[in-house]
Amino acid sequence: MAASLAGSSTVVDLGCGSGLDSLIAARQVGAAGQVIGIDFSAAMLARANCSRAKLGLSNVQFVQASAENLPLQDASADHVLINGIFNLNPFRDLIFQDLARVLKAGGTLFGAELILRSPLESDARGRSENWFS
Ligand SMILES: C[S@@+](CC[C@H](N)C(=O)[O-])C[C@H]1O[C@@H](n2cnc3c(N)ncnc32)[C@H](O)[C@@H]1O
Repeated sequence: MAASLAGSSTVVDLGCGSGLDSLIAARQVGAAGQVIGIDFSAAMLARANCSRAKLGLSNVQFVQASAENLPLQDASADHVLINGIFNLNPFRDLIFQDLARVLKAGGTLFGAELILRSPLESDARGRSENWFS
């Protein structure tokens, strides 16, 4: 994601995976800010923590939790990043509900997702590189 988070305090990276966006955000918010990367996959979080340690960043933490039930207080996030989890989730309404709860009034949500604008050709459906198949 190319959005700038400079000067902000608390950033939540929902479905952080191996943590790339969280680590970039941690550099942007600086020592006064904090980043919380959340993912339900322990394997992804292990990779994220490994990268965090290599970079020596102390303003980012990775938490194992479900996007539908965030372990965060109401109105506690200035910004939320979501990069690529909606296609994987049937419970999108619940995710948006919990996001509305944790995001401060006037906070921002930066989202990125692959969107299918028309049906895939049948020969494209079975390809492993195609996330919609
Ligand atoms: C396509 S990956 C994207 C990872 C990361 N945002 C990135 O851009 O590299 C989606 C990630 O979301 C996580 N995820 C999917 N659904 C989730 C949910 N309901 N709660 C928590 N994490 C979820 C997966 O474990 C996976 O790490």
